[in-house]
Amino acid sequence: MAATLRSTVIFLCLSTATAKFETFTRNYDNFNLSMIDQANAEAELKAENSASVNNTALQITPDVCDPNMLNLQHRSGRIMLRKKFKLWNGGDDSPVASFNTYFLVNMYPAPTSDSSPGEGLAFLIAPTIDIPGESYGLFLGLTSSSTDGKTNNGIVAVELDTVKQSFDPDNNHIGLNVHSVRSVVSKSLTPLNITLAPPTPAFHNVWIQYNGTEKIIRVYIADQPERTSSTPPIPKTPIIEYNLDLTKIVNKESYFGFAASTGTLVELNCVLRWNITVQHFTSNSKSPLNTLLLIVGIPLVVTLLVGLGASFGYYWYKRRLVDRSNSYMLNRLRTLPGMPKEFRFRELKNATINFDEKRKLGQGGFRVVYHGLLSDDNVEVAVKSFSRESLKGEYDFLAELTIINRLRHKLLVRLLGEFLYVDTSLLVLLFLYANHNKNWFKKMFYL
Ligand SMILES: *[C@@H]1O[C@H](CO)[C@@H](O)[C@H](O)[C@H]1NC(C)=O
Ligand SMILES: *[C@@H]1O[C@H](CO)[C@@H](O)[C@H](O)[C@H]1NC(C)=O
Ligand SMILES: *[C@@H]1O[C@H](CO)[C@@H](O)[C@H](O)[C@H]1NC(C)=O
Ligand SMILES: *[C@@H]1O[C@H](CO)[C@@H](O)[C@H](O)[C@H]1NC(C)=O
Ligand SMILES: *[C@@H]1O[C@H](CO)[C@@H](O)[C@H](O)[C@H]1NC(C)=O
Repeated sequence: MAATLRSTVIFLCLSTATAKFETFTRNYDNFNLSMIDQANAEAELKAENSASVNNTALQITPDVCDPNMLNLQHRSGRIMLRKKFKLWNGGDDSPVASFNTYFLVNMYPAPTSDSSPGEGLAFLIAPTIDIPGESYGLFLGLTSSSTDGKTNNGIVAVELDTVKQSFDPDNNHIGLNVHSVRSVVSKSLTPLNITLAPPTPAFHNVWIQYNGTEKIIRVYIADQPERTSSTPPIPKTPIIEYNLDLTKIVNKESYFGFAASTGTLVELNCVLRWNITVQHFTSNSKSPLNTLLLIVGIPLVVTLLVGLGASFGYYWYKRRLVDRSNSYMLNRLRTLPGMPKEFRFRELKNATINFDEKRKLGQGGFRVVYHGLLSDDNVEVAVKSFSRESLKGEYDFLAELTIINRLRHKLLVRLLGEFLYVDTSLLVLLFLYANHNKNWFKKMFYL
């Protein structure tokens, strides 16, 4: 035990501003009504206006099986994930979220209509789930005549448009929309032999990929003959490839989903399958889990803070880790009025599942921060491992200690504040300075 104790020390500390990404993934192979049921707390999706679920699919506008044209005309709807994603943080050169989505759509005109389809369906990133009023017809559930084109719409959409407006290339195109239904780029699908809404049902696979590092959006489309046919491979070349800086367009926190509309002409606007992966920032919103953990967690943190002081001093006294050649570091450590608590290396190994790659929260220079769970207390922690790859390591280490020092005085409340506002994945930040190599600790301190 002494050996393991020697190898690790943890400091309770407040968060430094490291960018942390989280990955959200959903693969919906089909849909059911409970997924949009407002009364169901588990429901992940929210439907607006006449959007609904039927036949295991999202009907963004009413299902054209309804023989009453009046129920079908001049409709708009949205179905979006209830979850809000933090897509960017602000600041120059700050990274941007990335996402990948894939969906299978089915569009065709109402059997009772004159067989011309209208109007279209779009994949949407928007600041709110709420659909604007009067967003039917050419507005595709995205905007309205009073809002279209306004730069504060905060909307990016990929439209599958089946009606030609004056600004459209034709009545069978895919377009990228920014704040407006007038696309910044649009491509006719006719040359690809793709008809969005032919009289007989057609099934279109759409892939939209956004890389937040490159800030490029790519859209791909490929047909399949039947709903149950196997998914064709993603085409080699995107139909749309466009430089898009989301930070200049969408709100920091935005929603993902679908919008669609009908006009005088109507069509089925149906999403049969949907995969989405968003690599987003951990948001600062206070979740119920955080609140719960706050109630449980504050006493724990306080207990830890008190316990840490006593054990740290005692430990260092007992260990007598005195090294005259490096007395600066040790003096600094000694002057610290408490704080650190010792954890066994095994505890941290368990907490981070052996420093699993998947548990990595972030990396900066020679530090890696892992997400961990201390099984005994069920407290979530950030475990920061600090490898000594350069001399600077020592100073960073001391910088951390300084933070701890400050924290002890007035920033305790701040710590709890941070603790409160850190996302669900992260509560107490335990900064660990450790390495698998037992001699590492000695090296770290030049012992
Ligand atoms: C969608 O997700 C499912 C489940 O993970 C996967 O089997 C399928 O290949 C994905 N589809 C596409 C086109 O990526
Ligand atoms: C709806 O789908 C969800 C997720 O696949 C599933 O857990 C749930 O049992 C389904 N509900 C119904 C009523 O089929
Ligand atoms: C759901 O689909 C079935 C079969 O197509 C249809 O009979 C029914 O009217 C639809 N329900 C709604 C609410 O559209
Ligand atoms: C589209 O269909 C026509 C006629 O069937 C064919 O000649 C042409 O090669 C097809 N184009 C593509 C891009 O598949
Ligand atoms: C985004 O692009 C960068 C640079 O080309 C690449 O290194 C990175 O792997 C890409 N990220 C994703 C999520 O595809």
